[in-house]
Order: sequence, then C-alpha cells, then structure tokens
Amino acid sequence: MTTEPNAIPWKRFSERISYSSCNEDSKSELQALRLGPGKRVLCITAGGGRVLNLLHDVPREIVAVDVNPTQNHLLELKIAAMRSLSHQPYLAFLGVRPARDRLKVYQELRPALSGAAGAYFDAHPEVVRRGVLFQGSLERFLVHVARILHVVRPFWIRRLFSFDDITEQRHFLEGWDTRAWRFVGEMLCRRSFLELFSRDPGFWRFVPPEVPLHRRIFDLMHRYLCNHLARESHLLQLVFFARYIYEPAMPIYLLPSSFERIREALKTTQITIVTASAAAALADVADASFDAYSIADVSSYLSDADFGTLMDEIMRTARPDARLCSRGIFMHRPLPPDHARRVRRDHNLERRLAFDDLAMVHEFLVGTLSTESC
Ligand SMILES: C[S@@+](CC[C@H](N)C(=O)[O-])C[C@H]1O[C@@H](n2cnc3c(N)ncnc32)[C@H](O)[C@@H]1O
Repeated sequence: MTTEPNAIPWKRFSERISYSSCNEDSKSELQALRLGPGKRVLCITAGGGRVLNLLHDVPREIVAVDVNPTQNHLLELKIAAMRSLSHQPYLAFLGVRPARDRLKVYQELRPALSGAAGAYFDAHPEVVRRGVLFQGSLERFLVHVARILHVVRPFWIRRLFSFDDITEQRHFLEGWDTRAWRFVGEMLCRRSFLELFSRDPGFWRFVPPEVPLHRRIFDLMHRYLCNHLARESHLLQLVFFARYIYEPAMPIYLLPSSFERIREALKTTQITIVTASAAAALADVADASFDAYSIADVSSYLSDADFGTLMDEIMRTARPDARLCSRGIFMHRPLPPDHARRVRRDHNLERRLAFDDLAMVHEFLVGTLSTESC
C-alpha cells in the first residue's frame, strides 16, 4: 500500500499567478548548468526571473515551460517591459520602486504580448497597477508574514538587516532563539497554517509527516544566517519586508550591473514559451536536443511516477554531456536506479550550492547526463 499523496491538481492553480518574484538563487543554476553560446536549455518559468537570470550566460535558446499559463503570461510581460524600458523605469513598472503610471506603461507594452497574456492582464489590471513583481499568491502571503514578524520583533529585524559584517551578525544571532520568536516561527510554518493561507499547492506534500516543517525551516534559516548576510538574500528581504529593501542584492536580472547584459541577450537568445508540464513539453521534442535542464524544485511537487516520467524524457532528449540542475525541498528524492546510472553527479558542487543558495531549504541534484550508464 502506498502512502504517497495524490498528484497536485495544477489546474486549480492555473487562474492566478502563484509566484511572481524569484525565490531561488539563480547563481546556483548558472554554476551548475554551464550555459553559453550554442546551448539550448529547458527552464521552468515560475515567476519568470529564473528564465531571465539564465540570459546572463547568453545561451542559444531557452525553452521556458510552466504548467500554469499565468506564470508564462508574467514572463511575457517581464520580457516585453525589459525590451522597451531602461533600468529605472523597469524597476518602477515591476514594483520595486514607486510608480503612478503602470497602467499607462502597460498599454504601451500591450501590443508585444500574445493574445492570451494580453487578455489575462487586461482582465487583472490591479495586478499591473500594484506592480507585478509582488502580486503572486506566495508574495502576497509574505506581506502578512512580514507584518506578523514586525509586530513581534521590529527593532531586531531592522538590526538584522543592517549588518555588513558576518562575524557581527553571527554574534547578534546568539539572541535569535527567544520563546516568542519560536512560537511565531512554529505557527507560520505549520502545515495547516500554510495550507490555509499560503495558497501554495503544497511544497510539503512529499515531506514525511513526522518531519516538523517549522523546525527544519527555522534551523536552515539559522544556519544560513550564521554564514551569510541577511540583507544579501533577496528571499529573506521578501520574508521580512515583503519587498526589496536592499537593491544591491536583488535577483540578477534586476541588478544595474547585469540588466543591460540581459537586455542585450534578449536580442540573440531565442525564448520559446510552452504551457504544459515539463514532461509533456519534452515528449514533443526530438531525441538529443537539449544541453541543460533547470527544473527548479518541481521534483518536490511530483509523485514518484511523475518524477520518473520527467526523468525518462530528460534522458531521452539530452545531448551528450547535457547538464541537469534540480532542487528538492529539504531532501532531493532519489533517482530511479536506471537514471542514477546515467548521471555523473557533482557532489561537491551540490553540497556547496545547498550551503550557499539563498533559498536555504534545497538539496541539489546536479550532474552531467550520459547517454550510457556511468
Ligand atoms: C515548482 S514551483 C516553486 C517556485 C520556485 N521555487 C520559485 O522560486 O519561484 C515553480 C513553478 O513550477 C510550476 N510547475 C510545477 N510542476 C510543474 C511541472 N511538472 N511542469 C512544469 N511546471 C511545473 C508551477 O506552476 C510553478 O510556477
């Protein structure tokens, strides 16, 4: 008898944007995937930032795939805006900076969108008006989380984000573990609370029920903060402030130092957007046609059978020496034995990424795919 939960009914989540920012650290994917001229990569869209960040290494083509069409609409809008706006207006349009004229800017961008994306944003002007970057269900949930955290420890939070020296921050963290703090952490990370308020389809569904989410999240965050500055994590900025308060540490495509490079890459890298599950999207492509796969943490949301099907398609469509970067929440589900034999894993890099990645909760599976058993 299997105790595996049912597959996630993604259709239920397809009417709204679930993730609008980028909650992962794409520096990890860039290290793992070794992109460059001539490379063709499959990338889960999510908030679109994970796709735009990969442009930093200027591959030949990115196939952006998401089972939720609204995530792809968001990517289209971010691309259209990047093509026509310079850096400051881009930040204002997305919502990093204040702006009053987002709907007017949207009307100028509108002709560049597909019919489906245009229809979606026409029907949801408030998403554009408020700034799309923070309008995903997760990002809106974090508004409430940040409010609660600020009620409990407003001065402590401000101080935490003021450090530019890790030794001083580590010293400061000795006072982290108060009773009130632990109570709030436990409440916010409880499965029932997340289920009710986060509107996430359930990143915890395949985490064994005996694993206390709150303790794992709390401990991983603490480990991260003992080794990395709080303000340098754009995810922690969202958790504690629900917006970016330290702009030098935003996702790559938003940074002034890489914005122009990424904008230029939009002129040469082909971006193909597909609404389907990653396995279904790959089922339509020829053998040996991809050099890299950036599948985010979808493995954490898939049943064993669906993960097996996705890996089958990845193996079939991989060119020799293709690279894979996959994340699992807390732990990565093991590969089926046939697949494990065909992945030359980069364990040192996996460990380093798990330690440094600002998403804090991921275990990585990174390696080179071989057409023969390793
Ligand atoms: C796995 S979720 C997690 C969010 C991610 N960690 C981030 O930082 O944004 C990201 C996206 O994967 C999409 N997704 C989930 N399972 C999928 C699948 N099998 N194929 C394609 N997309 C999938 C969801 O619709 C969602 O937009």
